[in-house]
Amino acid sequence: MGGVDVPADSKICVMWGSANRDSDLFERPNQFDITRDLDERKRKSLSFGGGIHRCMGAPLSRMEIRVVVEERLRRIPEFEEYQPRVPYPYATLIGDDHLYLAWLCE
Ligand code: HEM
Repeated sequence: MGGVDVPADSKICVMWGSANRDSDLFERPNQFDITRDLDERKRKSLSFGGGIHRCMGAPLSRMEIRVVVEERLRRIPEFEEYQPRVPYPYATLIGDDHLYLAWLCE
């Protein structure tokens, strides 16, 4: 698997959080880049699984997050981080546990 021999009866741990961080597939895999090519991203992204069990809620989830982000940006367009990010404490997922944002209002 991936060039590594896995002996029979081995126990393996699937790290879902690393699936979209494969530097063989993604340039700058650890950098959030909202401008990544959409077709390429959909083709490679494993966020919603793949194959016969691919997430049935993927289109709904994509629509929901688009509405949330668009509405937040429309209502409160200016914000900044006001404390260092707090990483998620377990190895199963990669990301922030807390993200402190301050809305900048006039
Ligand atoms: C950001 C939100 C979501 C993420 C990241 C996500 C992720 C996933 C993943 C990775 C799988 C595949 C699991 C596997 O291969 O065993 C899956 C399956 C599934 N998801 Fe989602 N999901 C999300 C939201 C939703 C929503 C909102 C619904 C329903 C309205 C939904 C319904 C399903 C169903 C029914 C399956 C099973 C499909 C099958 O086994 O054929 N998901 N999801």
